[in-house]
Amino acid sequence: MRILVTGGTGYIGSHTVLTLLEAGHDVVVVDNLSNSSPEALRRVAELAGRQAALVQADITDEAALDAAFAEHTPEAVIHFAGLKAVGESAAIPLDYYFNNVAGTIALLRTMERHGVRTIVFSSSATVYGDRNPIPYVETMDIGAMNPYGRTKEHIEDILTDLGTADPAWRIALLRYFNPVGAHPSGRIGEDPQGIPNNLVPFIAQVAVGRREKLMVFGGDYDTPDGTCQRDFIHVVDLAEGHAAALDYLGDHDGVHRWNLGSGTGTSVLEMHHAFEKAVGEPIPYEIAPRRPGDLPAFWADPTAALTDLGWSTTRTIDQMCQDHWRWQKNNPHGYQDA
Ligand code: NAD
Ligand code: UD1
Repeated sequence: MRILVTGGTGYIGSHTVLTLLEAGHDVVVVDNLSNSSPEALRRVAELAGRQAALVQADITDEAALDAAFAEHTPEAVIHFAGLKAVGESAAIPLDYYFNNVAGTIALLRTMERHGVRTIVFSSSATVYGDRNPIPYVETMDIGAMNPYGRTKEHIEDILTDLGTADPAWRIALLRYFNPVGAHPSGRIGEDPQGIPNNLVPFIAQVAVGRREKLMVFGGDYDTPDGTCQRDFIHVVDLAEGHAAALDYLGDHDGVHRWNLGSGTGTSVLEMHHAFEKAVGEPIPYEIAPRRPGDLPAFWADPTAALTDLGWSTTRTIDQMCQDHWRWQKNNPHGYQDA
């Protein structure tokens, strides 16, 4: 297939583009490079032995999208482009709603004009909010707790309304749990700008000497070791989940929701220990106050993805840490080192 991937130079996007190229698809990436480097795609091409095209454009710019669709005639879209920092979304909500929600509307309007009605969308486990029991199941009511999460919820609603209005649409809403790790080559990986918000990129920067120590946010939760538990998923498993969802949409119309997670909770301290094992050295940490807005524990019920897509995670916590570490060690400052 010819697939247009928005946000395809980013962390999850670049790994998915590689998976798609390896599966024989043709790929065009649309990215404004606001949080990524074109070097990621150069390395994807090196790994895949062939290239994805790159259109540097903003998804809110319908004229630019029209030109990309006219030139590359995609048959389906995978939509990663978006802003994703929870704290920042509370400080600048309009930017988040404009970029994520208005950007998605511009993309969907463009798709309609060009007769493309198959889309896989990056949603998040954050849409389950703080009222649901764990594990999270796709049939639960959703209710995000911050502007970032609400952009995902609004986009899910828009896509659901679209699928109801026109049954020709084929829509997959993929709710990611906590993506970590990198391609095992160590050539592509997560390259956060500034201080990492997320756990594993922070641990990795301590391990490589860029930061002094990990602050573990909260050691007094009602969990087995007192620290929060999350459902970590290897980014390559996640990328493969996109390919599986796209295959499914090949012969199913309508709107579909799938959790992409492992179904297992791992604590912050367990993750820290697994990373120490991968590095082979101690990584300094201290227990700090809780981070506002954090939930004690959540993980996926991944049954639906297994039943419908035949997809489940295959990579372990140790592999996530080893692969993440290989990328960080070989590229201490991310793509800037290129
Ligand atoms: P990322 O920031 O690495 O990738 C996003 C890409 O989108 C970047 O390359 C950025 O330059 C691009 N982009 C942003 N706004 C754009 C716009 N207006 N026009 C064109 N390009 C634009 O993030 P990621 O971690 O790869 O996440 C990809 C998607 O998955 C996002 O939608 C994110 O919200 C979602 N998601 C991520 C996580 C996670 O933990 N990483 C978890 C759940 C959901
Ligand atoms: C965060 C986002 C969520 C997003 C997800 C993607 C919040 C409130 N939620 O979730 O919307 O979908 O990332 O991966 O930001 N931790 C530390 N020290 C650190 C960093 C994190 O102890 O320096 C702890 C956190 O308190 C949390 C766990 O590690 O308990 C995981 O944190 P993080 O990687 O930020 O992910 P989430 O909080 O699950």
